[in-house]
Amino acid sequence: MGVILIGPMGAGKSELGKSLARRLGLGFVDLDKQIVAQAEMTIPEIFSRLGEKVFRQYEAQCLAQAVDSKQQVLATGGGVVLRESNRKLLHQNPPVVWLDAPPEVLASRIAGDANRPLIADVDPLVKARELDTVRRPLYAECANLHVRTDQFDAEQAVDYIIAYLTESGHA
Ligand code: S3P
Repeated sequence: MGVILIGPMGAGKSELGKSLARRLGLGFVDLDKQIVAQAEMTIPEIFSRLGEKVFRQYEAQCLAQAVDSKQQVLATGGGVVLRESNRKLLHQNPPVVWLDAPPEVLASRIAGDANRPLIADVDPLVKARELDTVRRPLYAECANLHVRTDQFDAEQAVDYIIAYLTESGHA
């Protein structure tokens, strides 16, 4: 079984994903790390030298490779839902879990993070709100389960996801 985590920057995909993987006895894969390895550049370098469009190409390519491996929890980047072909892959590879929190919470978690080029030189709250407007319907379209990470601590959120996986026959 594999689980794919989607959701905005700062939703807790990496932290919660690692803990979920440990509990399920699965590996943990971070799609951004795969992109960095493939491009041999950091995420900010890819954005500044090659542009966001090329980053999205790497992202699509790495997602297509990563979904083939089923014994893992896969944490994706916040923008993975933007491409229709990626959304199709997510549909084809359930369960997809959407980790979510309001823009105010996300902004406070990601403010000042130099590894997130989308918030470099902009107000993180303005950006988080803008991304929320565009992406919320796309996360909703792709997700089998919606989890608010600002309402539970990480352990409770993991318990909730595992209960869903068990009840839905995935685990
Ligand atoms: C992005 C989110 C980032 C990373 C890149 C773009 C986005 O991943 O893929 O900076 O478009 O929201 P996280 O969601 O893990 O921060």
